[in-house]
Amino acid sequence: MVVKHEECRCEELPSAMVAEAVDSPYFILAHLSDPHFFSPTGSRMTDFFNKRLYGYLSWRWRRRHEHSDKVVSALIKDLKCQHPDHITVTGDLTHLGLPDEYRRAAEFLRLLGPPERVTAIPGNHDAYVASAWENGQDLWRSYLVGDSIHPPGENPEISFPFIRERGDVVFIGLSTAHPCLPLLATGTLGKAQLQHLEALLNEYGSRQQCRVILIHHPPVPGVISWRKRLTDYRDFCELLQRQGAELVLHGHAHIASCSFLETPAGRIPVVGVPSASAIGRTPDRRSEYNLYHIVHNDRGWQIKFKRRRYSFSENKFFERGSWQPLLP
Ligand SMILES: [Fe+2]
Repeated sequence: MVVKHEECRCEELPSAMVAEAVDSPYFILAHLSDPHFFSPTGSRMTDFFNKRLYGYLSWRWRRRHEHSDKVVSALIKDLKCQHPDHITVTGDLTHLGLPDEYRRAAEFLRLLGPPERVTAIPGNHDAYVASAWENGQDLWRSYLVGDSIHPPGENPEISFPFIRERGDVVFIGLSTAHPCLPLLATGTLGKAQLQHLEALLNEYGSRQQCRVILIHHPPVPGVISWRKRLTDYRDFCELLQRQGAELVLHGHAHIASCSFLETPAGRIPVVGVPSASAIGRTPDRRSEYNLYHIVHNDRGWQIKFKRRRYSFSENKFFERGSWQPLLP
């Protein structure tokens, strides 16, 4: 497996490319991740007699100084000004998977936009303990179900992978979220999900649609430590080498990252963003979201992107360079 990690450049595009961006029909996609809403409101003491105790202590000592609602408010405001066609949120909307955190995350999704324009997937913190995801998922249901038609009066089933088609752009939502032991933050796709993913990539690839995979854990080596890894990343990467994809978006690492998975059909960009609510002890951990400009032309799918980062002193987001091609 060949994975290359590269520093993302932020350079002005040649004027010809800017003209192309203006003239062609295109799709603007926003990607953010890991807001980690924390709220013990309404919880009982017994809710913390499990792994949540470690998470709660971590919040008291460290995390509460890293995440801020003020940053989230500025992010929502900034996103509205960018007018994306679609917004994706790649997990860890909650910190401990507590009921009020699920409620706050649902409100956050609603503020981002209607389910037709916003897609979410869960992260490991959303399944912090076994009951968390089962009890909370219903509040986000409309944001994490596929396009399939369901009987009137019945809720659409939540299952992974799911598919959402928006024109020629197709979102494939995966879940790596499962409870794990204290001090671990691993994720796993599992054989059934991988098998289904392979069939979907094949089907939508043969239709020449732009396949955007949403996954919480970074699916390539070198981005995250062993205790936070995706356990079956090798299977995922081998699958992508067989079937291809146009773009993979992830969260979990809380830093901006950009890797390229080498495949026989070309390189697949694998891109991560910092936590959406992060004040940022260091600039690389400060809240950011990415915007993607996706267009189809005679060279195939062309994707450009730019990052928008939070400024603590100005309490607003600003652009880190203009549109740049994702594939060098
Ligand atoms: Fe995570």
